[in-house]
Amino acid sequence: MRVTTLSFGFLPDGREVMLFQVECEKGMQISITNYGGIITSLKVPDRHQQLGEITAGFDSLVDYLKPHPYFGALIGRYAGRIAYGNLSVKNGVYQLKMHDDYCHLHGGDTGFHTRLWDYEIDKKDDEIRIHLSYLSPHGEENYPGNLTVRATYVIQDNNSFSIEYEAVTDAPTHLNLTNHAYFNLRGFRDTISDHQLQVNAYQSVELDEHMLPTGRLTDCSGTLLDFQKPVLLCDRSIPSEFELDHCFVVQNPNSDEIPAAVFYHEPTGRMMKVYTSQPGIQVYSGNFLDGSLKRNEEQQFFKHSALCFETQHFADSPNHPHFPSTLLDKGEVFKERTTFRFEYVE
Ligand code: GLA
Repeated sequence: MRVTTLSFGFLPDGREVMLFQVECEKGMQISITNYGGIITSLKVPDRHQQLGEITAGFDSLVDYLKPHPYFGALIGRYAGRIAYGNLSVKNGVYQLKMHDDYCHLHGGDTGFHTRLWDYEIDKKDDEIRIHLSYLSPHGEENYPGNLTVRATYVIQDNNSFSIEYEAVTDAPTHLNLTNHAYFNLRGFRDTISDHQLQVNAYQSVELDEHMLPTGRLTDCSGTLLDFQKPVLLCDRSIPSEFELDHCFVVQNPNSDEIPAAVFYHEPTGRMMKVYTSQPGIQVYSGNFLDGSLKRNEEQQFFKHSALCFETQHFADSPNHPHFPSTLLDKGEVFKERTTFRFEYVE
């Protein structure tokens, strides 16, 4: 496998942005930039060894400098919603910037997805590690504590990649990191309704009418949110009538054998398996995509053209003390890991 480092252009303040392109012997090709830690492109083989682009993104930096719905980006400091922007930390409540009338979302407008990360590359025979690091200063987006974050993309020659997150802080704060890649295993020619979805969860985080957690977990067995066995999405009129933007409680976090979710497209044979150490997985069916963004004429990002698998802690955990904690204290080390594995079924 090999990695090529290229210039991806310059930020308005003159800093250079890099693009890392990795090619695996088994076929997978992935491109990652240190701007926002964004996966700009991901190509995997189908059952006829044809490579296809399966993630939403752009080929040039300028498109990422305009507003976009977090395509492929690292999200922080807090992925998901924080109700009314109230961040309760041990010694106080911090008012975060509001995304709308009800919440702070995805770390705010100048969240990690807009930051230029430092980088370092380690190359071994069957593994390439792209280390991205960022120091988020105390007060950034009004979060407390100087936070040092490291996100490492570990690309393996078996057509898989992991993201390993690590962070330390010099004062108590909350942290919830994810990657916001959008997937369509057919390559954005149609909606994801001909894909199958399996989620290893029998509970989801109950939401109120503003998409904020109520604090309860609900049993999804036998409901529209039951994906314990693979479901062909169109059989449930998903996402045409019932849209997904739900957080599932992962049954076997940390398992290398039992995926948290499986996404499969029978016509091409492409299959993606997601493994994670995190307690939740937000599954989102591109409900806010509207076709105004495109990579090129063949790949336009229209409503419901993708599914996101955002492995994370539950939204608004700082305000629900019985949820798995997102508090990071001075002296603690935050660690999480998510793996995406690609296969094809003959
Ligand atoms: C998450 C949220 C959605 C939306 C998307 C990005 O999945 O839950 O409501 O904000 O990110 O647009």
